[in-house]
Amino acid sequence: MAKMWAGRFKKEVDAKVNDFNSSISFDAVMYKHDIEGSIAHAMMLGKQNIIDPKEAELIVQGLKGILADIESGVLEFDMTAEDIHMFVEAELTKRLGETGKRLHTARSRNDQVALDIRMYLKDETKEIEVLVKELAETLCDIAEEHTETVMPGYTHLQRAQPITFGHHLMAYVQMLLRDIGRLQDTYKRMNVMPLGSGALASTTYPIDRRLVSDLLGFSAPTQNSLDGVSDRDFCIELASAVATLMMHLSRLSEEVILWCSWEFKFIELDDAYSTGSSIMPQKKNPDITELVRGKTARAIGNLTTLLTMMKGLPLAYNKDMQEDKEAVFDSCKTAKLCVSTMTPMLKTMKVLKENMRNAAARGFINATDCADYLVKKGMAFRDAYKITGTLVAYCIDHDKTLETLSLQEYQSMHPSFESDVFDAISLDTCVKGRNVLGGPAPEMVKQQIVEARKQLEYEMTSKMD
Ligand code: ARG
Repeated sequence: MAKMWAGRFKKEVDAKVNDFNSSISFDAVMYKHDIEGSIAHAMMLGKQNIIDPKEAELIVQGLKGILADIESGVLEFDMTAEDIHMFVEAELTKRLGETGKRLHTARSRNDQVALDIRMYLKDETKEIEVLVKELAETLCDIAEEHTETVMPGYTHLQRAQPITFGHHLMAYVQMLLRDIGRLQDTYKRMNVMPLGSGALASTTYPIDRRLVSDLLGFSAPTQNSLDGVSDRDFCIELASAVATLMMHLSRLSEEVILWCSWEFKFIELDDAYSTGSSIMPQKKNPDITELVRGKTARAIGNLTTLLTMMKGLPLAYNKDMQEDKEAVFDSCKTAKLCVSTMTPMLKTMKVLKENMRNAAARGFINATDCADYLVKKGMAFRDAYKITGTLVAYCIDHDKTLETLSLQEYQSMHPSFESDVFDAISLDTCVKGRNVLGGPAPEMVKQQIVEARKQLEYEMTSKMD
């Protein structure tokens, strides 16, 4: 494809350099946003009489035709084009002749690309948000079924205190609610319109930036032309929100992987969401979750790429910034893929309640409750802690649990123990007793679910657009 800037040059660009320089292989995905942006720009040029309104109308129709032809597959991208912006403009000129050449009046590719990425990422952010909301709702649904499903809670991956599976899952819902908040916050700052910044110093034409901003559904035009073309904070913020979201999915994945192992066997994934081994006939592997955990590395890498790419750039546009797209687009694609695969995987998994309860019944996770029992009888916590520690050591030596000790054994350790100790250390009592706000008691988890659903409803109806 002939270069727009050929007039200034005596030689054609080297073919390899052309490939090296070209971004169409990864920015063609923005074709719709590029065309919509150009339509708004042409309408404004016509309205302001910067170009003949009749020609503006021809340009608008020409651009709509190009969009329709790309979507129907009639028009293919020219991979030798420098980027999607040059491709669309050249195609328009092919179709309209002289008139097509007027589209780029009062515009630079620098403000054009800044506009296109914002428009593209606004859509991506909304799509990710919807998927995260579905995942959060799915987790609420599963949690609701398991407000009484006792499992061990862990610290240091050692059995610690009794909780329920519902309580555990709702912790992830809290993370996802924060992820939604971060996406919405990112969206707010992404939603300003840079066109009119020109190459860097705006333009001498009497453009109407507010009109373009309104036509394209932005909240306002950007305030400084240098910043308008130099800013990629919104890419970094989105990549950061996605990296945090992926880190959450990765932690959940890690737990699912553990829970699927024979060592835990707390859940079983549906066959449709597991894979086998090519050699070991017994295997059923949680590949999806391993991939989510693995792909989290890309999301973190993309954020690092963007920060590193930007940190040394003088104002305003530098070609380094062309590297923004592959990184942030990949983060969005990865997040959408991972969230939309995890939701049905979780929806279809089998929860093996008995195994959770059996695990909870071993490992002395009611030892804190045993100490608390003595405290409630009037003993200082530190003394109660010591006596219970001695009891646990005794149990380990005699292959017993706190539940299977006899009352005599308890009383030989301390006379404050009475027959009600067995009720005090039963797993159900331990869970139900933790009925403070945020605790694992079934009624508190039910309350958490109600609150989370309310928040999901509110977040979705109010924030984006
Ligand atoms: N393909 C370029 C990018 O993605 C578009 C902007 C080019 N501007 C320029 N002056 N070379 O960043």
